[in-house]
Amino acid sequence: MPEQKINILAIESSCDDTAAAVLCNGKILSNIVATQKVHVQYGGVVPELASRAHQQNIVPVIHQALATANIDKKDISAIAFTRGPGLMGSLLVGTSFAKSLAMGLNIPLIEVNHMQAHILAHFIEEEGYDKPEFPFLAMTISGGHTQIVKVSDYFEMEVIGETTDDAVGEAFDKSAKIMGLPYPGGPLIDKYAKEGNPKAFKFPKPKVDGLNFSFSGFKTAVLYFIQKETKNDPDFVEKNLKDICASIQYTIIGILMDKLKKAVKETGISQVAIGGGVSANSGIRQALVDAEKKWGWKCFVPKFEYTTDNAAMIGIAGYYKYLQKDFADLSITAQSRYKF
Ligand code: KG4
Ligand code: ZN
Repeated sequence: MPEQKINILAIESSCDDTAAAVLCNGKILSNIVATQKVHVQYGGVVPELASRAHQQNIVPVIHQALATANIDKKDISAIAFTRGPGLMGSLLVGTSFAKSLAMGLNIPLIEVNHMQAHILAHFIEEEGYDKPEFPFLAMTISGGHTQIVKVSDYFEMEVIGETTDDAVGEAFDKSAKIMGLPYPGGPLIDKYAKEGNPKAFKFPKPKVDGLNFSFSGFKTAVLYFIQKETKNDPDFVEKNLKDICASIQYTIIGILMDKLKKAVKETGISQVAIGGGVSANSGIRQALVDAEKKWGWKCFVPKFEYTTDNAAMIGIAGYYKYLQKDFADLSITAQSRYKF
């Protein structure tokens, strides 16, 4: 008997990316992302504008995902969507669309937690990529979250450390903004850091108990440093951009790696995965490669296109829920704060 084909249409709309993907038995057939450009001029995501842009993008993005996958609507087995966490106005667009389409096609609806999906992205069927074995540790690092999670099974996850204030992506973006770089500044800091000296300037590391993080003090330290230096030399940032970026990135990665080391020591688990937008950072990716050599960890670094927000990760989470017949009721609502 031929293997049953489980086709999942996945929709992601939690922040400022409208995304849709189609997966067949855990393999990606299409993965479409429309990144909203409207926010750049405001230096950050404007929730109302994000919601409106999702409304404009969602139909063409889903059309493109189905067309690229060469799948007809009638061949979709289930629809997976991001229920939360995220911006309410953004989540509502994806949630309402997913519910309506599932009702119209009379197929199951699957709700997905966005942060679990960042972790489960490691289970997408990809040639040349190993999947982690349970239990493993996952560090989710994005513009909205910074967590260390103990993953015992696909949907059995425990947060063992998290930020008490800003997320690590905000530390990147806000530092970039202080230097006059456009939003989102994380990728730009990464780019300039490649050519700078990471030890040129020293920034303080916060002292936080246990496995938790704090980044608000770091951002303030960067602000005071730049203010002080530009008072002496108005062109300080321009002249030292690469070294400042390298030093900021070096400090942030040091903060993340210190906590990961502590988590490995405390749990005795040395399989470590990263996920979320900041896992695109070349410094953190290299730090994990080094950790394999130095400490014998087994590290899982996501393929670049599964780091920032995407629907492929929602689809893989949806696929594993489909296998467990974990379907949502049509009365389900979006949840901006959604713990797991
Ligand atoms: O996961 P994501 O796309 O959205 C959220 O769920 O927040 O993460 C976006 C964040 C932004 O803060 C962005 O600056 C950061 O990820 N980011 C990076 C890099 N690429 C994206 N930060 C540092 N280095 C990068 N290469
Ligand atoms: Zn995300």
